[in-house]
Amino acid sequence: MQWLPPGAFQDQVAVVTGGGTGLGLEISRGLASSGARVVIASRNAAHHAALIDEAREKGWRVEAEVLDVREERLVRACAERVVERHGRVDLLVNNAAGNFVCPAERLSANAWRAVLGIVLDGTFFCSQAFGRTMIRQGSGRVLNVVATYAWTGMPGVVHSASAKAGVLAMTRTLAVEWARHGIRVNAIAPGPFQSDGARENLWPDPEVERSIRAKIPLGRFATREEVAGHCLYLLSSACDYVTGECLVVDGGASLGQGMWQPGERFTRKRIQEPG
Ligand code: COA
Repeated sequence: MQWLPPGAFQDQVAVVTGGGTGLGLEISRGLASSGARVVIASRNAAHHAALIDEAREKGWRVEAEVLDVREERLVRACAERVVERHGRVDLLVNNAAGNFVCPAERLSANAWRAVLGIVLDGTFFCSQAFGRTMIRQGSGRVLNVVATYAWTGMPGVVHSASAKAGVLAMTRTLAVEWARHGIRVNAIAPGPFQSDGARENLWPDPEVERSIRAKIPLGRFATREEVAGHCLYLLSSACDYVTGECLVVDGGASLGQGMWQPGERFTRKRIQEPG
């Protein structure tokens, strides 16, 4: 991240859930290249290898924990190991998520629980376990990844939208509750951004991609690097007076567009005065 001062996160201990792939990977890279000691925590050990190899090459300090954030006991044990190794936790990024498109009437109870478990339970379990250390040390920064459909709603993702809405409420609640401990808690709501997963699941063919892009006022998808840059900004000391905030990074996609297309001309009829 060119705009970040060199060493912006020097020696800070950062935990990034889902930190081995997608946006989590990009955030982890940004933190590690800015001097942080990064712990990536995710279910699948195979997802750790890419960043661990890159870190070895570049001299970054990155380590991995296999963790299912749905399991409170495992989250607590992971937090204990991190504190044992590093003595502190400065940054927590709750990025791990699960999602798929499914009509609400067909969603099984197990599918509902899988997504709620990862997104809502997982964010709380991690915030609590790592937050306890932040409370003891009197400082910390938490960033939760949400989505604009937490407040706009979106057909097909009732499980994820409900969970993200809960995470947004958690963000604002903990921001106030933990401010006295020197802990900032913020959220970021990215719109669609370019990634292999998004291409496979959301816009598998160019026509769908074009129609999604047409709904974005800025006319393009974000890049993953761009979204990660905003995450780092919220975690950085540049935002030391910002807490409980949710930064929307979606090119205007979630804004109301009224009844007219942008740029469309319309004429206003004069209302006839009676008499
Ligand atoms: N449509 C409908 N139901 C689905 C589904 C889909 N595309 N994918 C999973 N499910 C259902 C399963 O059928 C199962 O329900 P059932 O037991 O009633 O059949 C339930 O969800 C749990 O699935 P399972 O694969 O056993 O759980 P998991 O914990 O291993 O997987 C998921 C978690 C469901 C979130 C999985 O999709 C996943 O890991 N995705 C990858 C991460 C991801 O989605 N990231 C996106 C970030 S936005």
